[in-house]
Amino acid sequence: MTTNHKMIARDVSVFYGDKKAIDSVSIDVDMENVTAFIGPSGCGKSTFLRTLNRMNDTISIARVEGTIELDGEDIYASGMDVVQLRARVGMVFQKPNPFPKSIYENVAYGPRIHGLAAGKPEMDQVVEKSLRRAGLWDEVKDRLQDSGTALSGGQQQRLCIARAIAVDPEVILMDEPCSALDPIATAKIEELIHELRGRYAIVIVTHNMQQAARVSQRTAFFHLGTLVEYGETSEIFTNPRQEKTKDYITGRYG
Ligand SMILES: Nc1ncnc2c1ncn2[C@@H]1O[C@H](COP(=O)(O)OP(=O)(O)OP(=O)(O)O)[C@@H](O)[C@H]1O
Ligand SMILES: [Mg+2]
Repeated sequence: MTTNHKMIARDVSVFYGDKKAIDSVSIDVDMENVTAFIGPSGCGKSTFLRTLNRMNDTISIARVEGTIELDGEDIYASGMDVVQLRARVGMVFQKPNPFPKSIYENVAYGPRIHGLAAGKPEMDQVVEKSLRRAGLWDEVKDRLQDSGTALSGGQQQRLCIARAIAVDPEVILMDEPCSALDPIATAKIEELIHELRGRYAIVIVTHNMQQAARVSQRTAFFHLGTLVEYGETSEIFTNPRQEKTKDYITGRYG
């Protein structure tokens, strides 16, 4: 693996009350490689993903141990500005969740609260650039004032990606971003992930092993809150080192 790690997680454990959901997981995330998290339902993929931008803070009974660094900076340090952190480490959810506002506003909202555009012309540019990067511009450029919720599911998900991109993130976390989408919309998101690779560090949780194989270069296999195996995607799928990984990828359980 490269040494150019964007995020480094070391010995991360997560508790919900007394229950340990993640047990001492260490993982690195980098810009060049898309990282996929796979594993059976309930194994802790979403829980671990949420530690990377402190979304677990919003769950009162959740507690995180261990260290997670973004560019060498401890994101759980007391001085960390969590709003700023979540702009740097953006998130896209399973169900597309645009705001009930215009397409334009969905994208402009973040840059406005973070003070990233000086005036209307600059904001127009940020909105266009973000929609272009999310592969949505051509489909919406003539209807920017229409409601974001009026778009198709796949378009809504790309709008959510544009919204994440608009605040100039360094890392984008995606939690099963295609599970509510049809195969064509899914293919578009997968293509987009290929295009965004290298510009952002991308982590994607997926139930779909073909998808993990298609979009990622690194795969992490979780089981019962532990990280069983983490390595090159091609290795994980063709030559896993752990018996549990082999069982999972050959469909023996999960
Ligand atoms: N908010 C919560 N409060 C209490 N327990 C939770 C909470 N969220 C998750 N858990 C528990 O933590 C464990 C891991 O859940 P998590 O949602 O991270 O799994 P997952 O791998 O993302 O599953 P799925 O593939 O079904 O999305 C499960 O046992 C789950 O019940
Ligand atoms: Mg999940």
